Amino acid sequence: MHTLIVAGARPNFVKIAPLIRELKKQRTITWKLVHTGQHYDYQMSQSFFEELEIPSPHHHLQVGSGSHAEQTAKIMMTFEKICLEEKPRMVIVVGDVNSTIACAITAKKLHIEVAHIEAGLRSGDFSMPEEVNRVLTDAITDYFFVTEKSAIENLHKEGKKAQHIFFVGNIMIDNLHYGLQKVGNTTKDSHVVITMHRPSNVDDKDNLQQILQAIIEIAKQKKVYFPMHPRTQKKIEEFSLQKLLENDNIMTSPPLSYLEFLRLWSTSSLVITDSGGLQEETTALRIPCLTIRENTERPVTLTHGSNTLVGTATQKILDVYQKLENNQNYQVPELWDGKTAQRIITILQEISAKTSLERKS
Ligand code: UD1
Repeated sequence: MHTLIVAGARPNFVKIAPLIRELKKQRTITWKLVHTGQHYDYQMSQSFFEELEIPSPHHHLQVGSGSHAEQTAKIMMTFEKICLEEKPRMVIVVGDVNSTIACAITAKKLHIEVAHIEAGLRSGDFSMPEEVNRVLTDAITDYFFVTEKSAIENLHKEGKKAQHIFFVGNIMIDNLHYGLQKVGNTTKDSHVVITMHRPSNVDDKDNLQQILQAIIEIAKQKKVYFPMHPRTQKKIEEFSLQKLLENDNIMTSPPLSYLEFLRLWSTSSLVITDSGGLQEETTALRIPCLTIRENTERPVTLTHGSNTLVGTATQKILDVYQKLENNQNYQVPELWDGKTAQRIITILQEISAKTSLERKS
């Protein structure tokens, strides 16, 4: 079975890396990698390919930045040509970024089957572009690979057939295990790590200021590391908020590579973030996480893991921060065990065998 695997943005690279590592071990499924170029800076893209040993993409669409419509349209136009040339049986998309939806639509209209890794997650918050991408991608997906049980329920509610939904666990955690081995022994420290890039947090001056104010308070007690997403960097400059961060206890930097960042957060005492992936990664390592959002599409990190939603108001963030205890009861969710890629490939092989039998008969 010939497949195209799509990756475009930083959170995609950590999901395709374990899949490709496993695909290399078998011969039933032939594959090619397509990089859309949604993320293009060295630190946002190439450094991940190098550290996670992802092979060079067979096709690079080089779409770059743009409005949502521009970016999505450019990906669709260029990806369509690749599909016509490669004639894949299946396109595999991951996550919830613009590249995910763009390539899913393109494939589906060419009658190519779509598999979605990390399907079924729902925040119900359509002001986030990622929620639009999730719901629309799943509306046309053929095979759903899910990370947590809430996703199975969501897909059932949307009328998806049970035999097309596969609870395989969290592929990003495969990569976490791989990364931790590379990083080697590290010592725990008391520092705090913050990341943020959501338009709702950084494009709105008031929200951004509220969050930064909380960071300044926390920095009175602990060292805070703040690797900045390009969007956040631009907005802080645009709103002239750089002065707020001139503080001996706040260490800002450009985005870090996967392993540099892993070394930093895995040894921290607390992570503050609006990232989807980091809510899950901190849960996997039982490190407390304050999510600066009002909702999450990953509820298992709240019910079982170490995550708490704190919104964006300074006082609310600080109230939760001050009450944080070292809770030993944090659980690692079911099947977040580093073997998700293997499970996905076994299922893909079954799909491949079944459809080739159907074609013969
Ligand atoms: C995208 C994803 C988001 C994901 C995030 C992780 C969508 C809708 N959003 O958001 O789900 O959590 O990636 O990082 O797909 N930029 C650079 N260099 C780069 C990439 C982007 O400078 O390598 C700049 C762009 O010019 C733009 C801004 O960063 O101004 C945002 O980039 P964009 O790809 O639009 O979305 P993200 O905010 O990164």
